[in-house]
Amino acid sequence: MAVLETIVIAFWAMLPAYVPNNAAVLAGGGRPIDGGRTWGAKRVLGDGKTWRGTAMGITAGLALAAVLTVLADGVGSALGFAVPEFTPLAALGLAGGAMLGDILASFLKRRTGRQRGAMFPGLDQLDFVVVSLPLVALLDFEWFREWFTLEVILVVVVLTPILHVTTNMIAYKLGLKNEPW
Ligand code: CTP
Ligand code: MG
Repeated sequence: MAVLETIVIAFWAMLPAYVPNNAAVLAGGGRPIDGGRTWGAKRVLGDGKTWRGTAMGITAGLALAAVLTVLADGVGSALGFAVPEFTPLAALGLAGGAMLGDILASFLKRRTGRQRGAMFPGLDQLDFVVVSLPLVALLDFEWFREWFTLEVILVVVVLTPILHVTTNMIAYKLGLKNEPW
């Protein structure tokens, strides 16, 4: 597989997992998932994880997967190689896994004494990959095996932190996010 082809497939396949975090930033607010509860002296998740942000994040990821699925044939023909169409379960694994990974990361941040918005290098950039890929494999293994080859997974692991840092920096500059990470 050519390198460029692998990068395009990795990016396309991960888009439904990339978009939920950004949608949550735009749509967040309202009731926190943990309802203000604490565990030990710290919040379970914190005010940065809300029902509305999570619901809108998953919805945005599913909607994008549906749009990409409609476009896949045309884009594939134009590029000269196939790009993924998303099965409903694959889309759910990507979008739901991304939000779940982000929530688990906040849980870990609170347990390690980090305040809301504190940086946790590594975890901040890869939390959603670590949860969404296994979840996709669990929900639709055939789809996972077809698209997430070893090469694609390697590109995802390298590309995701770069994209994450870039988009968060843009969101910070635009005043949408309080911190650049
Ligand atoms: N957000 C949300 N619900 C989510 C994820 C994010 O409402 N499930 C919104 C919140 O307004 C949050 C913002 O998006 O403040 C930025 O997300 P993130 O950086 O993940 O949260 P932080 O506020 O930095 O909190 P944490 O330290 O827990 O990551
Ligand atoms: Mg944050």
